[in-house]
Amino acid sequence: MARTASIMAVELQHRRWTRRNPNRSFSAFYSDVIRDKIVAGNAHRILGDRQRFESRSSAIRDRLIYHRGRAHFLRLSSRLRGGSPHVVEFGCGSLRVGRHFIGALPPGAYTGLDVTDYFYRVGLDALPEGLEEDKRPSCMVISDEVLRRVRDTSPDLVFAVAVIKHVPPAELASVLVQLAGLIGANGQLVFVFEEASRTMRVDGKSWAYTRRTMVDKLERLLPGHVAEFEVLDSWSFWGRSIQRTELALVPRSLTTSGMAREAAAGLP
Ligand SMILES: C[S@@+](CC[C@H](N)C(=O)[O-])C[C@H]1O[C@@H](n2cnc3c(N)ncnc32)[C@H](O)[C@@H]1O
Repeated sequence: MARTASIMAVELQHRRWTRRNPNRSFSAFYSDVIRDKIVAGNAHRILGDRQRFESRSSAIRDRLIYHRGRAHFLRLSSRLRGGSPHVVEFGCGSLRVGRHFIGALPPGAYTGLDVTDYFYRVGLDALPEGLEEDKRPSCMVISDEVLRRVRDTSPDLVFAVAVIKHVPPAELASVLVQLAGLIGANGQLVFVFEEASRTMRVDGKSWAYTRRTMVDKLERLLPGHVAEFEVLDSWSFWGRSIQRTELALVPRSLTTSGMAREAAAGLP
């Protein structure tokens, strides 16, 4: 009931917004709504789960935010093979994960991309003093020109956390084209998505997709890459199993067997 009401409320809000903003994407709607909420003085998770944890002490809350971002960083950075890697975060938001990469990588090695500059400006401001000057992260608003420029740098790792779930079915194919277009033959693409046995809207601004949807769209875009899935978390939602799943598209040459792992298996 609450879910249906939330979806209907967002639908109405989206329709009104589309009348004022014809031809703009759901992603633009998503970031506009959240930015307006924050500008109006409301807390939002995008700035670090402040709402959910506001009843606890701020020290605990800040530690939780830090550790969640760090857990993603540790998992993702373990894929890097040394040397001087270039890492690109797609949908970097307020740098919850990005700040850990910025701290760990050499200067100039982290690029954050988003549909709006609002969240990463907040994130850059919150970096420890001197870190931005030392490490020179490059944060940019996504455009065709920016995507071309970033692709030309041949990123070793392109990743997206908590982004694909906010992309509606009608826009999924074009976002996956953007993501896949950022890596060359030797780059890895890793993103986290909400997985279900069928495409479903799990709340007003979030969708779950099937593994098959991802594989069908990506195998044509990245024929030289192997899809590897890892389930990070799972829960039950309205009688259905939802998983938080990481999908890694790894160049065949970097996989141990050079063979595709079972990519198309459905949910148990
Ligand atoms: C929930 S936040 C996650 C931010 C960050 N990745 C993290 O894990 O903390 C979702 C982010 O995705 C961005 N976003 C939404 N749709 C996008 C799209 N189509 N392309 C790129 N970024 C998008 C939003 O602006 C927002 O910064």
